[in-house]
Formats: sequence, C-alpha cells, structure tokens
Amino acid sequence: MIPLRPNIAAMAGYVPGFQPEDESAYIKLNTNENCYPPSPKVVKAILDELGTDGSSLRRYPSASSGKLREVAGRLYGFDPSWVIMANGSDEVLNNLIRAFASEGEEIAYVHPSYSYYATLAEVQGANVRTYRFSEDFRVADFPEVYTGKIFFLTTPNAPLGVGFPLSYIEELARRCSGMLVLDETYADFAGTTALELVKKHENVVVTRTLSKSYSLAGMRLGFAIARPEVISALDKIRDHYNLDRLAQAACVAALEDQDYFLECIRKVRETRDWFTTELRGLGYAVIESKGNYVFVMPPDADGRRVYDGLFQRKILVRHFSDPLLVHGLRISIGTREEMEKTLEALGEIG
Ligand SMILES: Cc1ncc(COP(=O)(O)O)c(C=O)c1O
Repeated sequence: MIPLRPNIAAMAGYVPGFQPEDESAYIKLNTNENCYPPSPKVVKAILDELGTDGSSLRRYPSASSGKLREVAGRLYGFDPSWVIMANGSDEVLNNLIRAFASEGEEIAYVHPSYSYYATLAEVQGANVRTYRFSEDFRVADFPEVYTGKIFFLTTPNAPLGVGFPLSYIEELARRCSGMLVLDETYADFAGTTALELVKKHENVVVTRTLSKSYSLAGMRLGFAIARPEVISALDKIRDHYNLDRLAQAACVAALEDQDYFLECIRKVRETRDWFTTELRGLGYAVIESKGNYVFVMPPDADGRRVYDGLFQRKILVRHFSDPLLVHGLRISIGTREEMEKTLEALGEIG
C-alpha cells in the first residue's frame, strides 16, 4: 500500500473545464478565456526575452518578480511591498490556505462559486463550510462574526456573474475575524474593484489574474495585493522561482499596455450586453453579468439538453451537474461572430 495521507486518498480532485486537443474545431466558450489575443507588445516582449537562440533560458528567472510587483503596484496605487506575483491566481489561493488554515481549521465560501477553494482546503486537511446566496444575492445566514480562518468571496461571482456593492463587501470584512479573500478574477470586466478595502482592513486580501482580462491564461500569471505582513508570509511558502522568464516579460508588457487592455474589455462588455438582450429575446432567463460570461437558463430549464445540442454543433459551453446549476449553462463571451453563431445554434436547438 502506498502510504498516502488519508485526505489525499479520499479526495476527488478538481476537474477543470474541457480543453479539446483540436481547439480550432470548436467555438470555445467553456472556460472564460478572452476571445482576443494578448497585446502585440506582449508577443514582442516574449520574443525579445527569448532572443534568437533562447540562451536567456539557461538562467533562472528573477526569484522575486520584483519588476512586476513595481508595475502592478504603480497601476493599482500600492507600494511593491503590498504585491506578490503568482503562477496564476490559483497558486496564491493555494498559498493563502497554507498560510492561514491549519489542519482541522475552517475555511468557507459561497456556493455556487469557485469550487477549487474546497479542493485546496482538502489538500491542506482544512474543513470547508459553504454558504448559499439569499434571493438578493447576499451571503445567506452569514454569522455576525465569522470565526473561520478564511472566507473567500468571488467578486463578481462566477458562474452567476453577480457583483456586490463595496459597502456590502466592507461589511463582510468587518464580520470576518479571520481573512477575507476577494477573488477578483473577473473584476476588470465589471470595471469595479474592492482594492481600497486592503488599505482600510488588515484582514482583506485581493487576488487578481492576467488569465482573463489580459488574455494570458496560457502564461499562468496572477497576483495578490495585501498588507506587507501577509505578503511576507506568502513569500516564505511560494516556490522561489514561481514565474518563468517568459511569463515575467509578458506580464510587464501586458500591464503597461493599458490602451489595448481597455479596448478589449470594452469589446467584451459590448458583446456581453448585446448577447444578453438577444438571448432574452429567445426566451432564455439571463442573469445580468459583470464578468466575461453569462449564466443562462433555457425556457425548459434543461441545461444538459442545450449543452448537448451545442456540443454536437462544435460549440463548447459549461454545464454543471450541481443541483443548483443543472438547469442552466455558463457561456463565455466570445467575439461577436462566435456569439452570432451560438445564437443561431440556440435558435435551432429550441
Ligand atoms: C473564480 C476564479 N478564481 C480563480 C481562477 C484561477 O485563475 P488563474 O488562471 O489565474 O489561476 C479562476 C479560473 O477560471 C476562476 O474562475
């Protein structure tokens, strides 16, 4: 018998969205990637870093990703000592659990949101509590003082797309005796952020990613903003060379090309709002989304049937078997042309 830790033996592991081998055969709207390429300046920065013979790759990258912390800090109004870079925001979510929740201690999040928090907690041997949403999208039955080690709020929520007012997020910060981690994976599409709460409340951490709004899911780039004491703790436990050289070059170029970034966001939001209106015209219920995706319910509330119909037409969307979500689908926002084809397919499927 292999002497696995019992919690690892017992856990199922996270199942990410389907990534087809032959991507070009599909309209891929299942993992909330950006439909536009990254800035041309990112491509140039990667090629420059690589050089003609790739000899830079012989050397380890910067262990601190110091330049990236400076650029991200400047962009969001924080000293670099308040910033840590990560190999995708998943890495920093993992390290937050490792830093704050010991075996047997509790973390919590709202369900539905990002179930990977639970997987990370299971690895750590921490306990997981989930809260539901109330009708008005507040955390139902949230205690006056939540005493678990971390409460994760995906803001705006995924997969539903709902945003939360800053005043409500601040109330949650006051009601958490442990850490409040605000997962702002999709905040750029909302155009709002709770970053100012990091300065006001010592227990608030904001996590961010370049995967979605900067079109860099394939480079694995994320970061967190928090008090320097929190950042120092996270620095102790991360892999020391957590970002490779090409990713570091890409990150600086992406964050510095704000014109390109803002134009991509504008186009995604425009398509999202148009698609929402069109879908409602087809009789679908669509939750107003702040992200680059929409959660939609077909008139017969049979999400699986519509998923299968789209799959047959080589359109990939996300269907969840979870009882709270089984009636609907999460559809990432693609280009206008991709969404027109999706609407046409949905019209055929009926
Ligand atoms: C809510 C949420 N948090 C975190 C992540 C992880 O993002 P990254 O690619 O930065 O690891 C995702 C990815 O889909 C997500 O949806």
